[in-house]
Amino acid sequence: MKDGFERKTEYLRISLTDRCNLRCQYCMPSQGVTFRRHEDMMKYEEMLRLVEILAGAGVKKVRLTGGEPTVRRDLTWFVKELSGIRGIEQIGLTTNGLKFAEMADELYDAGLRLVNISLDTLNEEVYKYITGQYGAKKVMDAVNIALMTGYKVKVNCVPLKEINERYLPEVAYIARDRAVDVRFIELMPIGCGKAFEGVPTEDVKTILKNTLGIYREETEFLQEIGEEPEFAGPAKYVRFKDFEGRCGFISPMSDCFCDRCNRLRLTADGCIKPCLYSDEKINICSMMRAGASDKDILAAIHEVLSHKNQRHSFGRDILGQEHRRMNEIGG
Ligand code: GTP
Ligand code: 5AD
Ligand code: SF4
Repeated sequence: MKDGFERKTEYLRISLTDRCNLRCQYCMPSQGVTFRRHEDMMKYEEMLRLVEILAGAGVKKVRLTGGEPTVRRDLTWFVKELSGIRGIEQIGLTTNGLKFAEMADELYDAGLRLVNISLDTLNEEVYKYITGQYGAKKVMDAVNIALMTGYKVKVNCVPLKEINERYLPEVAYIARDRAVDVRFIELMPIGCGKAFEGVPTEDVKTILKNTLGIYREETEFLQEIGEEPEFAGPAKYVRFKDFEGRCGFISPMSDCFCDRCNRLRLTADGCIKPCLYSDEKINICSMMRAGASDKDILAAIHEVLSHKNQRHSFGRDILGQEHRRMNEIGG
């Protein structure tokens, strides 16, 4: 499947729910959130049908997101069914890590291999300030358990000006003794994110170089490893000397990666969105419930893909801008 700019679409991100057991300030407000009604949510069976259709059209990787995907019931069953779909080579999960440790084994057995765990700081007070509750240690335990279970693990950290900024080197250090990719993500001005100030990648690099610089031989970015070859994600990686894992930077604001965009999104209420930022979408769930054939569904997805923007327009374009919050889109 290609979009109007000849970008190949091989990667589907499925938001399983808009609910979450945390309230990260830049993602979801602590009060006044109305969630989608149960009957408006896409059922697992409907999602599986869609993945089969898309796998037949070249999608090879699925990542499950939220809200928080581990709060949706029967997740393990769903992962197992997904892993049985011909053509799906990789299944990943993006989670806040709070419930992950208790599910790590069963999800692995079901076929999950990739887990991205969000951890903006190791400082419990700052963690609580950002997310609404203590949990940094629990999430760090989940990182360790995920590694022991055999997952390929990435840690996601969103640097926020004057909030977790001074704690970033500690987060980077997670990759020192572990085969983990720690990624620093530039805050995108979507939903609640608009009210906060992120830290540009260049500044994060400077902070890391300066701090890790105490041990001089560990300061240099030894090897610009560049993009991951398979189903390339948006992160660019570097490796500090003597670090087992890597540090990565996802820079949608300062180093737009839309020209390499390989993904589609499915929201929990069944809309296919070609771009995180644009409000362009097609409601596949309604189509299915109205009796659409696989062929109709695929044609509708091709149609919406053909309108996919060449790049995002964060901060510039008011018309056509996504008004959903990040917990509804899945990042
Ligand atoms: P893998 O490459 O599969 O490991 O995933 P990823 O790094 O793309 O996924 P993850 O869910 O861990 O997301 C990390 C950050 O990247 C989140 O802040 C996402 O919102 C952001 N992100 C992921 N995909 C896109 C994208 O296509 N566009 C933009 N602008 N941001 C993205
Ligand atoms: N900008 C960048 N990343 C965000 N995330 C949530 N909201 C934003 C935003 N506005 C991150 C979370 C999580 C990942 C799925 O998306 O911190 O790591
Ligand atoms: Fe793709 Fe849109 Fe993300 Fe750009 S902002 S990489 S086009 S999803």
